[in-house]
Amino acid sequence: MNPSSEGVDILVSEVGPRDGLQSVKRAMPTAFKHRWIAALADAGLREIEVGSFVSPKLLPQMADAAEVVNEATQIPGLTVLALAPNFKGAERAFAAGVHKLTMPVSASRLHSMSNIRMTPEQAIDEVARVCAFRDGISIDRRPEVEVGISTAFGCTMEGAVPEDWVMQMAVMLARAGADSIGLSDTTGYANPVQVKRMFMRLRTEIGDKMGGAHLHNTRGQGLANVVAALDAGVSTFDSSQGGLGGCPYAPGATGNIVTEDLVFLLESMGFRTGIDLERLIAARRIIHEGLPDEPIYGHVPDAGLPKGFSRAYRPSDSASADGGR
Ligand code: COA
Ligand code: ZN
Repeated sequence: MNPSSEGVDILVSEVGPRDGLQSVKRAMPTAFKHRWIAALADAGLREIEVGSFVSPKLLPQMADAAEVVNEATQIPGLTVLALAPNFKGAERAFAAGVHKLTMPVSASRLHSMSNIRMTPEQAIDEVARVCAFRDGISIDRRPEVEVGISTAFGCTMEGAVPEDWVMQMAVMLARAGADSIGLSDTTGYANPVQVKRMFMRLRTEIGDKMGGAHLHNTRGQGLANVVAALDAGVSTFDSSQGGLGGCPYAPGATGNIVTEDLVFLLESMGFRTGIDLERLIAARRIIHEGLPDEPIYGHVPDAGLPKGFSRAYRPSDSASADGGR
């Protein structure tokens, strides 16, 4: 482990309002989405994926995406992110005023067809079209485009996904104009050795266009994979409050890593997230109110914070009463 985790900033990108809510059959009422996003931002989350611009016939839970983006962009300092699978979704997201767009491009052919009805090559062309369109937006309002390579570590439909192919895709996506390219373990197949190796390779292939890790906890490997990714120099992690999540088009895909547990892990290790864990845990109440009876998860919320835990333990804390955060 990198001995200098002390004080290193890590960006936790909350995906619950998108990845979480798309997997829940019932729709969370829009007013609760607004309250939930505001509470997450108030807890210190600096980036939130607030929804997706997909066909409302397929995912009615996301039909209010434009309204949710609009409201979220009123929150000072918050980077508002939304997902779009195609050009049409990107146009809608840009019109709604997103700061950042994320496009899923699947490494598995079967998952790609099932999820967005395009081959991986067609999806990369779609990213190029979206990036060309983005370049026409005036620089002060121009959103970033990030890509998450879905099923990068394996696929429930296709099994193993060749690593060389994932790296080739990352290079093609960088050429297509994506600002950053991350790796997604959509189906919870990844192990820590693979995660470290692939992110190290990704950095060699695309340098500072290396994006974050999007990990699911389907087989309980989520936080071990985070530690491996940290070792490879990853500094952005997606996670979902209460572990809500899954991909409706990848059979067997379940929840994201839990934001509360991720923040606890990072802060305990000395990284800086800027997130207040108590406020974060308190925001869970809004999920209970907006989606009564929907199960949500999290070891830290269930067990409570350790006695005396107010922030990360840092060696320098012993020298100053309030190490600051
Ligand atoms: N937003 C809104 N509507 C969209 C849309 C978008 N981004 N993309 C397509 N549509 C609409 C079209 O207008 C068309 O509507 P109509 O039937 O009223 O004419 C309909 O959807 C079908 O359009 P088409 O271009 O033929 O797309 P498709 O049927 O091949 O579907 C996707 C492609 C990407 C829209 C669809 O597969 C999808 O939304 N998948 C969801 C993927 C997802 O969110 N996965 C989870 C995240 S990883
Ligand atoms: Zn996901």
